[in-house]
Amino acid sequence: MSPGDSFSSSLAAICVGWTGASGLAYGVRLVEALLAAGRDVNLVVSAAVAQTAPIELDATPDELIAALVAGRSLPVVPGEPPRAVALAPGAGAPSRGNLHRWDERDFTAPMASGSSMRGGMVVCPCSMGTVGRVAWGTSETLLLRAADVCLKERLPLLLVPREMPLATHHLENLAKLSAAGALIVPAAPGFYLRPRKIGDLVDFVVQRVCDHLGVPVAVGGRWRAGLATGAGADPGEGA
Ligand SMILES: Cc1cc2nc3c(=O)[nH]c(=O)nc-3n(C[C@H](O)[C@H](O)[C@H](O)COP(=O)(O)O)c2cc1C
Repeated sequence: MSPGDSFSSSLAAICVGWTGASGLAYGVRLVEALLAAGRDVNLVVSAAVAQTAPIELDATPDELIAALVAGRSLPVVPGEPPRAVALAPGAGAPSRGNLHRWDERDFTAPMASGSSMRGGMVVCPCSMGTVGRVAWGTSETLLLRAADVCLKERLPLLLVPREMPLATHHLENLAKLSAAGALIVPAAPGFYLRPRKIGDLVDFVVQRVCDHLGVPVAVGGRWRAGLATGAGADPGEGA
C-alpha cells in the first residue's frame, strides 16, 4: 500500500502494534473491536509475532490479518467459538473501519510522523523487549518509532505488557514510560465478573483498553454498583 492511501478521512485512525509477548489474542480481539466500532486501524506487527501466532492461535500473522480485513469472525482462542463485538448502547451502527497493515521497516507510514499520527497507539501485547526499546527511544522499527511519536506529541500511548515475574529493569522501564505519558494497562484481567471462558478474560482487557481510547464497545462487562455484569455471557452476547 502506498503511503497516504485511505488516509484522507482517517486522521483519527488508531495505531495498533502487536509484539512477540504472549497474549496475541488480546491484540487480535482489540483490532476486531476497533474495526467493529468504525475506527480505522493502522497495524504494525513485530517480527517475533511470526513465532507466537502459530503457537498461541494456530495461525500465521498474515492469516489473522486476512481474516480481520475480510471481517471474518475469529475465535478469540482456538477451541472457543467466535464471538461478535457488541457496541455500547447509543453507539449507533457505524460502518466498519478499515485495517491497514504496515511493514515494520516502512518509515514512510503516517504513524512515523508527528504531523500525521493523531489517533494514538496501543501496543498489545507488549513484550518487555519493546517496553525497554520504547523507554529508551530507539525507534529502529515502525512500531517503536510510532510509540516514540506518541510520547513526543503527547498523544495517547497505551501499553499492554505481559510478563511474569517482572525484573527491576522491567519495572523501571515501565515507570519511565508512565512518567513520559504512556498508560500502562497490564494484561491482567480481573475475576470479579466471573469469567467462564478464555474469551471473557481477553474481553475484560480489551474493554479496558477501548474505554481508555473512548471507543464505545461493550465486550467485557463492567463492575457496576456491586453487580458483576457482562463477562461470562454467552459468546456473541456481549454485555
Ligand atoms: C511463545 C512465546 C511467548 C513469549 N512470551 C513473552 C512474554 O509474555 N513477554 C515477553 O516480554 N516476551 C515474550 N516472548 C519473547 C519475545 O517474543 C522476544 O523477547 C522478542 O524478542 C520480542 O520482540 P518484539 O518486542 O520486537 O516483538 C515470548 C516468546 C515466545 C516464542
